[in-house]
Amino acid sequence: MQKMDLLYEGKAKKVFTTDQPEVLCVVYKDDATAFNGQKKGTISGKGIINNQMSNRLMQYLEKEGIPTHFIEEVNERETFVKKVQIIPLEVIVRNIAAGSFSQRYGVPEGTVFAEPTVEFSYKNDALGDPLLNTYHAIALELATKEELFQIKNLAFSINKKLKEFWSKCGIILVDFKLEFGRCTDGSIVLADEISPDTCRLWDAETKEKLDKDRFRRDLGGVEDAYTEVMQRLEKHINM
Ligand code: TMP
Ligand code: ASP
Repeated sequence: MQKMDLLYEGKAKKVFTTDQPEVLCVVYKDDATAFNGQKKGTISGKGIINNQMSNRLMQYLEKEGIPTHFIEEVNERETFVKKVQIIPLEVIVRNIAAGSFSQRYGVPEGTVFAEPTVEFSYKNDALGDPLLNTYHAIALELATKEELFQIKNLAFSINKKLKEFWSKCGIILVDFKLEFGRCTDGSIVLADEISPDTCRLWDAETKEKLDKDRFRRDLGGVEDAYTEVMQRLEKHINM
């Protein structure tokens, strides 16, 4: 397979066509943004870590029966993925209160939920990714009722498997964001990435933040945190 033309450039990745109509090539950048692009920076080596981490986790999830867009890692920053129609929803699963949940509902960060929660945001930068419920998603024709049911079940199932995995690494999976895609046959697969950019990961003992919150909140040690998470993943993932 061969990478061809630039199709789309996002905040953290570029997407290229390939010589295969059903395959795209994703290239991970070191660029980092927060607060809908208002804060900009670079996290040196992030693209390499996020590409490899996301691929290892997607391969692990595939083995556990979760369909994903992953096809093949090309090199340290590039991966071939299935061409899918991205469903414009950010699917956020939370195990512990943090970030916008804590702010919105006045709940102290670190409050552990009795059960995980799921919420949807409309993936639309111009509108600031507003929160929406499943009725809104249906009204906006973003997805069907059946697709939303499937997405919610996949999201909880992915949470269970990722929580288990990160726990082996001495890491607490606080919350994370997923995106799903529609294949040409109508089936739904996990797309986008799973990385410290899209997950909150806390050290199980010290509760130290090992994710993009270090960048969002100017906590320093961003690169070290990403590297630490990747090293722990490599130690515990058995491919
Ligand atoms: P939040 O608490 O800011 O809503 O974030 C919840 C989770 O989603 C957190 O793990 C970070 C992730 N996230 C993204 O991946 N992309 C985004 O644009 C936002 C706002 C959050
Ligand atoms: N990636 C998002 C942005 O720039 C936000 C975030 O991850 O906090 O807008």
